[in-house]
Amino acid sequence: MRQLDQHASSARKPGGFSSGDLKEIRNVIRKKYAEVSVSADGKFQYPIGRDGAIALGYDPAIMQKAGPRLLESFCGVGNPFSLGEIRPGDVVLDFGCGGGFDLFVAGSLVGESGRACGIDLTEEMAKRAKDNLAGADITNIEIRKVDSENVPYADHTFDVVISNGVINLSPDKSACFSEIYRALKPGGRIQFADVVLESKLPADLSGSLEAWSQ
Ligand SMILES: C[S@@+](CC[C@H](N)C(=O)[O-])C[C@H]1O[C@@H](n2cnc3c(N)ncnc32)[C@H](O)[C@@H]1O
Repeated sequence: MRQLDQHASSARKPGGFSSGDLKEIRNVIRKKYAEVSVSADGKFQYPIGRDGAIALGYDPAIMQKAGPRLLESFCGVGNPFSLGEIRPGDVVLDFGCGGGFDLFVAGSLVGESGRACGIDLTEEMAKRAKDNLAGADITNIEIRKVDSENVPYADHTFDVVISNGVINLSPDKSACFSEIYRALKPGGRIQFADVVLESKLPADLSGSLEAWSQ
């Protein structure tokens, strides 16, 4: 198993990784999610797809409107919409939009006077979201593929930033949060669901490149 040299390099980057390791971690994430964009079956240890959305309490009316393709792609770890109200007219960023189900929910809540913008690190996932949403009855959504934690929008663009199972995947979590806060309007909100460590990882997983995509 390939071991990362976090904190070992003299040319350390944010997160403690060398630029080579940052690149490798992002590549391993892209590889996993390129596979997930084809089929998520057997790739997660928690409920995904329609069953996951039901278990997490998503609005049944919006699930019905989303249809089977968007629901089948859903692989979030929680429900960011349970954390606060998203209002008609809001401008929302989905940080790591995956196959687009959360983005569709955001677009439905903000309505025609609002906008929902999704960004994703994985080309294939961004394409899957675009394909899924092209078949849905919604027009206030846009999707961009990104190469790192940078948010390709001006300062103070968003009322709310949502994210679902993404920040744990990033080797540069400080950059995620500083970009999210930069892009939020003053008084804006971040509503995210994610995976956190409750205790130290076992030695064989700590520093393992493969562990980043599990
Ligand atoms: C668990 S899925 C997101 C689920 C999604 N919200 C949904 O509705 O199904 C995680 C996504 O985050 C993307 N990702 C990982 N790191 C990222 C980063 N630094 N910036 C943007 N997207 C990222 C992955 O490519 C993947 O598509």
